[in-house]
Amino acid sequence: MKGLLITLEGIDGSGKGTAAKYIATRLAETMPERRLVLTAEPTSGQVGRILRAEMAKACGDETKPAAAKHMQELFLFMADHAHHLTKTVLPALETGAIVLSDRYADSTAAYQGVTLRGIVPDPVSWIQSIYRPWNLVPDRTLLFVLDPHVALQRMQARRERQKFERLEFLQSVDENFRRMAAFEPERFVQINAEQDAKNVAEEAMKAILNIIYK
Ligand code: TYD
Repeated sequence: MKGLLITLEGIDGSGKGTAAKYIATRLAETMPERRLVLTAEPTSGQVGRILRAEMAKACGDETKPAAAKHMQELFLFMADHAHHLTKTVLPALETGAIVLSDRYADSTAAYQGVTLRGIVPDPVSWIQSIYRPWNLVPDRTLLFVLDPHVALQRMQARRERQKFERLEFLQSVDENFRRMAAFEPERFVQINAEQDAKNVAEEAMKAILNIIYK
């Protein structure tokens, strides 16, 4: 059986994480014979841990860090992705599993495509061009789309703001994601993430079943 790589993308507060867990549970019930690997980026591996520590340090002083800091962050995300791809994603696909990844390389293009503005020209395309020679493009990508105002309200109700959770920043990330989806309409499936969490998860589940049984 051929493996299937499905990624979940969207801005912080879009309900991807909740949807991923819901989908994993439902798929295990409906297709117990099919192996499912639920995974995420940043990972909890070595590079992922360094990344989280770096991001926690940067929290609060993210307005004007040096260009080198942004480059360091980009390459940490890429290194984490490379490790995730080779150690988790590719081996699982070889066994015929459905791999569901909560964030993947598109997050790097969308987020670091904002932090690298003014440092490299056209950062989204530049990041995509670095990935192109070695990355595995997902079979399908669910993009959780919602107004960044709504996303921010949800996060504020939940906990303190983290590094990337400022309105203007999320608006720019959201724009990047929408442009990327418009560029590859056959890969991206847009999910209305403005509904309550359960409906978001159900819409995502329906999209996944369509992909699996297409
Ligand atoms: P997130 O999915 O929120 O992880 P968790 O909830 O487990 O901490 O990811 C953490 C942040 O990292 C989030 O704001 C998105 C950002 N991010 C990037 O900037 N670039 C990337 O390549 C990835 C994977 C995430």
